[in-house]
Amino acid sequence: MAEVVIVPDAATAGAIVADEIARLVHANPDAVLGLATGSTPVPVYEALPARLAGVDMSRVRGFALDEYVGLDPSHPESYRSVITREVVEPLGLDPARVHVPDGSLEGIEHAGDSYERALAEAGGVDLQILGIGTDGHIGFNEPGSSFASLTRVKTLTTQTREDNARFFDSIDDVPRHCITQGLGTILRARHLVLLAFGEGKAAAVAGALEGPVTASLPGSAIQLHPHATVVVDEAAASTLRFAEYYRYTFANKPAWQGL
Ligand code: GLP
Repeated sequence: MAEVVIVPDAATAGAIVADEIARLVHANPDAVLGLATGSTPVPVYEALPARLAGVDMSRVRGFALDEYVGLDPSHPESYRSVITREVVEPLGLDPARVHVPDGSLEGIEHAGDSYERALAEAGGVDLQILGIGTDGHIGFNEPGSSFASLTRVKTLTTQTREDNARFFDSIDDVPRHCITQGLGTILRARHLVLLAFGEGKAAAVAGALEGPVTASLPGSAIQLHPHATVVVDEAAASTLRFAEYYRYTFANKPAWQGL
């Protein structure tokens, strides 16, 4: 099962995950990072520059999970813009080595296959950062997504569009379609690190970790992964049945294991 780490706040989660990413990049200058968007990974991205100061980042590669379809890449809320602003620029990554699925309408029918090819050519993702939607989606894999799915176009649920409306002027501006790595793609990453904060995520976290493995709650796919870490604050952990066991396990974890 996933290792569950319950922390007091998002900043502590960001520090723990940034430490792990820094360890990875120190050990492997060719590391391939799986990048998530949304508000959840922000504390990780904020904690990273200090840990990577002076480290050669020129060979590190990055792959975003998803992108909106039909949103101009220069739009401030396109995931291309978000990744550039929050990750590429602060870490000094080579923009040519950081990939985001192509959500342009022209050629969209081939964009998923191209992205899968690029991932395969890079040798796959070493560490994949994940958030989780209130409906349990990871990436933009909405309920019902196949566990075998690869990068493809999906339709966003009304709930996800409402959740993401805060990034746009109005809900009418939130695209209806997206292109996202599939659950099958995500499960190929060598280490999954899912973060969640706040009471609004408690049901999705409990379902993903302790509920049945079901396409109805796509985050439950992490139960199938041999190396998954879930870092949550107290509010997001508030309905976990085995919370005391997770705390005990983490408190007694041998230091050599890392995350
Ligand atoms: C978004 C993204 C996901 C993200 C999730 C949660 O729509 N596509 O990658 O994990 O929804 O968002 P947030 O972190 O803002 O709560």
